[in-house]
Formats: sequence, C-alpha cells, structure tokens
Amino acid sequence: MKAGGLHAIEALLADRIGLDPAALPRGMLGRAAKKRMEEIGTDDLASYALKLAASEPELLALTEEVVVPETWFFRDEQPFAWLRDQIAARWLKEPALPRLRVLSLPCSSGEEPFSIAIALSKAGLPKNRFTIDAVDVSARRLESARAGVYSANAFRGPAATATEGFFQPHAAGFELDPAIRALVRFHRASALDPNLFKSAQLYHIIFCRNLLIYLCSTARERVESTLDRLLEPDGWLVLGHADRLGGDGRATRFQAVGDPACFTYRKLAASSPTPSAIRHKPIHKTSPIIPPASRPSVQLEIAEDLLAEAETLANQKRHALAVAACERAIQRNGPSARAYHLLGTIHHAQGDRDRAEDCFRKTVYLDPRHELSLLSLALLAEQKGDHAAAAGFRRRAKRRHSAETN
Ligand SMILES: C[S@@+](CC[C@H](N)C(=O)[O-])C[C@H]1O[C@@H](n2cnc3c(N)ncnc32)[C@H](O)[C@@H]1O
Repeated sequence: MKAGGLHAIEALLADRIGLDPAALPRGMLGRAAKKRMEEIGTDDLASYALKLAASEPELLALTEEVVVPETWFFRDEQPFAWLRDQIAARWLKEPALPRLRVLSLPCSSGEEPFSIAIALSKAGLPKNRFTIDAVDVSARRLESARAGVYSANAFRGPAATATEGFFQPHAAGFELDPAIRALVRFHRASALDPNLFKSAQLYHIIFCRNLLIYLCSTARERVESTLDRLLEPDGWLVLGHADRLGGDGRATRFQAVGDPACFTYRKLAASSPTPSAIRHKPIHKTSPIIPPASRPSVQLEIAEDLLAEAETLANQKRHALAVAACERAIQRNGPSARAYHLLGTIHHAQGDRDRAEDCFRKTVYLDPRHELSLLSLALLAEQKGDHAAAAGFRRRAKRRHSAETN
C-alpha cells in the first residue's frame, strides 16, 4: 500500500467521522481500504482515495469497516442506576415537568438506548413522559438496532438480570419486546455534523459513551460543541469511563459532577446559555463536585477498570488507546506499578526501548520486587550490551521469585 493514499484516507476519515488513526489496530485501515478496493474492482490506492473524497456512499462503506461497534446492554451498570435515581428524585415526583428528552449518541446497535428505555420503564415513568433519540454513523449498526434481535454477547454481567422479562427467544438469539423497541427513534448521522438536530428541542440527558476515546483532538472539540449545543443548560452529559473531554491545552465546556463512578457532567456556566434555560427549572440540584481524594475507593475502582480496559486494548494491539487508558488511570488514582508495567510493555512492543525502560524503572521504584518489570529491565539492559546491569536485574528478579515460592 502506498503511504500517501493511506494518509489521504486517514485525513478524510478524521474530517468526516473524527476517527483518530492511532486508535485503530495497526494495519486495520489498510486492510479495510483493500477490502473496499477489491469490492469496487480497483487496485490503485491513490484513485481510491479520490473516489472516497467524491463519493458519500463509498465513504460510508469504508466507515462501516473501521468503526468499533462494541456495546452491550446495561454496559457499566452505574449510569443506568444513576438514571433511575434521577427519575425517582425528580420526574416521578413532579408530573408537571416537561417530557424528559434523552439522546444516545452514539448508539451502535441499540443496546444503550434500549437499556435507557428499559431503565425508564422499570422506574415507572409512563411512556408519554419521555422520548429517546439514538444516533450513529453506521447504517449497518442501525439496521441491527431496528431489528431488535440480539445474540448472547449483548448480555454481559448484570445485563441478564436487568433485561429479564423484556426478551423472547428468537431463532437468531433474543428478540426485544416491541413495546420497548417503539420507545427509541433511530437516526443516522455523524456526531461531528454541525447541523445535527439543529431545530430540535434540547435534551435533558445525553449519553455519549465510548466515542470520544476513538477521536482525534479536533474531532473531540467538534463533538463537544455538538453536545454543548444539544444539551439543556441544566442538562446532564454521561460519558464512558475511558472518554476524555478537552485536552491538548484546550479547556472543556463541561464539569464532572456527582458520583465519579457514573461519569456525569454538566455544562460550565459560561457555555452558550439558551432561552430554554429560563423556561425550565433544573431537573436536579447540581451535586457537589466530589474531589477525587474524598472518594478513594471509587477512584481506585475506576482506575482498576481503566487498567483492565487498557490490558484488553493492549492485547488487541490497540496501543494508542491502551496508553491513553493507562494515563487516565494514573491521572485518577496516581502512579501505580500495574499502570507503569503495562505502559512499559506497550512501549516495548512498539519498539520504543527508552520509554519502555523509563516505565519499567518507575514500576520497580513503586514496587521494588516487581518480577516481570525486573526481567524486562534485564532484557533491555542485555539489548544495550550492559550485561552487568542485566545480571543485577536478573538477580533481583530471582530473589523475588525465590521469596515467593518459599
Ligand atoms: C463503541 S460503540 C459505543 C456504543 C455505546 N455508546 C456504548 O457505549 O456501548 C461506538 C459507536 O460510535 C459510532 N461512531 C463512530 N464515529 C461516529 C461519529 N462521528 N458519529 C456518530 N457515531 C459514530 C460507531 O459506529 C459505533 O457504533
């Protein structure tokens, strides 16, 4: 594959769907482009890049090959418990409140918006008191969502209990109750589209989970601006635990509030107020910002989740995402041997020996008996020809090993 054509394709995808090429497993974009080129019968990457720039259907077809659709019912659980509490605290108590408007962006194959619909129904909110819109850029995922039939993979962890009574067995898996399916309106669009829902009413709650993590920084800024525009001034934004707002020296328009385990945010006061701010009362009193230090166990749990996610991403060779998740874990809960060891392993796999060594050294600084990091340092020292240092690290690792087996 010629690098120039691939760069043009990367730039196009970054502009249209915001995809950060570094978020993809190595070689994936090349393989996706090759697959599309075979389907349309060309073997010239440069002319394929030109076709892509000129043809919306082809851009969509390539998009289908590169998006990460991973999702499941009641993913991460806490945001749905938080949603139920919001409803109990406010919407069930105040029947005169306007109809609750919720947006799931992106919704992938529908598990998230349908979980919202199930959560609201179980909370006892009548169906004429809420609307749920769901948006994704992938036509293929939306087709699955509209079909409402799911394999066992869509039910992980607590999802089996949370969804009990809402599915019927089906030849292809499990079929969602049509009454729940009717509660969600699906739309195909990009979160970067400045005209998305331009004249629609604003949302009280937007779930925007597990999208920002895949986007380049300019795209994150554009999505933030979409979210800012579509959210009521007193509305809530719910992110995924690996998603990041702001960054690259840019301030975010949102502020984390409430229980850190739910990743809920509200607009900062300076952020574009709209006339509806005057019309509606706040849907819930803003919870105090909980400083990380005051919730050590939750912070620790989140950092552990992030590291587990980072390990999965590293195993899938999605190195840039894995590094980002490790860095977020360190930001949340401070340096840890587990985080630095993983960072060291990733840098080593990428051939960056200096950074790998730096991370393994930090690991053994934090945990002087970290056997795997000691062995990795021995290997790196060996590769540099420093046999004495290598022997020293090996001795330390061996002492650690003997202490553990005695
Ligand atoms: C990992 S899924 C997340 C689904 C769900 N929010 C969740 O957390 O389980 C990411 C989804 O983002 C969609 N996506 C990627 N770029 C997008 C964009 N620019 N606009 C809208 N959807 C996008 C993909 O098609 C994919 O379905």
